[in-house]
Amino acid sequence: MSNILCIGAGYVGGPTMAVIAKNCPHHRVTVVDINEAKIAAWNSDDLPIYEPGLLDIVHAARGRNLFFSNEIDRNIAEADIIFVSVNTPTKHFGQGAGKAADLQYWEKTARQILENSSSSKIVVEKSTLPVRTAEAMERILNSNNRGLHFDVISNPEFLAEGTAIRDMENPDRVLIGGRETESCHIADPATAEIYANWVPRERILTTNLWSSELSKLVANAFLAQRISSINAISALCERTEADVSEVARAIGMDSRIGPKFLRASVGFGGSCFRKDILNLVYLCEYYNLPEVARYWEQVVTMNEYQEKRFVSNMISAMFNSVAGKRVALLGAAFKANTGDTRESPALEVVRELLDEHALVVLSDPYALENARLDLGALADRVIFEPDPYAAANSAHAIAIMTEWADYAALDYKRIFASMVKPAFVFDGRNILDHRALYEIGFNVYAIGKPSLNHFINNGNC
Ligand code: NAD
Ligand code: UGA
Repeated sequence: MSNILCIGAGYVGGPTMAVIAKNCPHHRVTVVDINEAKIAAWNSDDLPIYEPGLLDIVHAARGRNLFFSNEIDRNIAEADIIFVSVNTPTKHFGQGAGKAADLQYWEKTARQILENSSSSKIVVEKSTLPVRTAEAMERILNSNNRGLHFDVISNPEFLAEGTAIRDMENPDRVLIGGRETESCHIADPATAEIYANWVPRERILTTNLWSSELSKLVANAFLAQRISSINAISALCERTEADVSEVARAIGMDSRIGPKFLRASVGFGGSCFRKDILNLVYLCEYYNLPEVARYWEQVVTMNEYQEKRFVSNMISAMFNSVAGKRVALLGAAFKANTGDTRESPALEVVRELLDEHALVVLSDPYALENARLDLGALADRVIFEPDPYAAANSAHAIAIMTEWADYAALDYKRIFASMVKPAFVFDGRNILDHRALYEIGFNVYAIGKPSLNHFINNGNC
């Protein structure tokens, strides 16, 4: 039996450790955090994050071999393997502000591990970090004169929110990077051994440390790049009466391109794509590769353009003004099946519509509390309404911001009847039946498709 500790009980630390505890009943898994309220929530039935299937797994393992605690120092002392899953946000001050990763939480954790250890340990980078962070961590951790040795391993996490449990139970691969030293030959198998309890060996990929750290940033950059690519094409489709869904299908059937991550949308959100690409851009600049930096930066620029374009299309379709008009945004989460609103395009659209003096109503089944917090002072100017029918009542327009399955199944005849006419629908996720909505009477604007409107001089939005 090993004592596994995870520092950081967030979207990654909590679910990953729950899955490890479920699949490794012979290991004791403890998750610690500085945030006492979060730990209390992990110890209740009202978990701090919404993730399908998570509560069942926590119920099965909590109290058996899965523990959530605030006692960080004691748990560090008792641990054999320590996963570090603290946040690594974009730095907002000093050198590299706006691009580089803010590593202060990671470094504090490393120093705390050092202070509280009386035996050698394996320290696993679970957070997403700039390439070569492990070198700095090794230097801090091994700067002791107590004969303690720390192996730093990179084991980035590839789960996506909303499908986290499925992704971890059946991962495409588990990546483990280590140094090719004598002690790391011991450390690598120990980390791999944990995953081998449920992941087939051929999917456990071992690489050198720097490849592993860099692969995580590159994976996110490639995924986001595909979305920005199809979103760029969606703008061209709207000018040419091509349909972006048909284009995506046609190109995705080429096995060299593949069909995934080609859904045009109002833009990608989430806590990681933007931050990790900007981190990659910063690294390229740091290593004096300006052309490479500009190449990747464009993925983020295109995403910002797509969000702004969505609002511009709304304004121009609604006779060039949304001032004083009630606009119901369906969805606050950055994607379906999560309550997370970090970098959600929905909130960017809220901000832009408020700038235009629209009366914004925001609806979501799980994310309204996070949306309220993320919007800060602006929240006072927004109506939060969980019921989509009430949100749409008396609205001039509704807009789909998150691809919640329920939104495709709403009674749109009822919604149309309750709205101000002419009634507009803007589908930022292309999940609705546009022809059916048009026949009900809506003027329909989707991403990358010709508009369907009832006005004379029928044109694109
Ligand atoms: P999060 O903000 O949800 O959780 C981080 C937690 O770490 C917080 O609860 C915070 O209180 C805690 N923390 C910070 N400093 C601490 C300290 N010194 N001691 C104890 N706890 C501390 O973040 P997250 O979404 O779980 O992301 C964590 C890392 O994983 C990031 O590097 C992120 O890029 C990466 N990642 C995230 C996802 C995702 O889907 N969210 C997926 C893959 C990788
Ligand atoms: C993403 C990656 O998919 C994970 O592998 C990675 O571990 C994680 O980032 C991370 O490092 O945090 P996540 O952000 O949770 O996961 O969710 P995704 O499914 O990747 O969606 C990201 C955004 O892109 C969402 O706003 C989603 O709606 C949007 N998206 C996705 C599109 O607009 N079109 C698509 O075709 C796919």
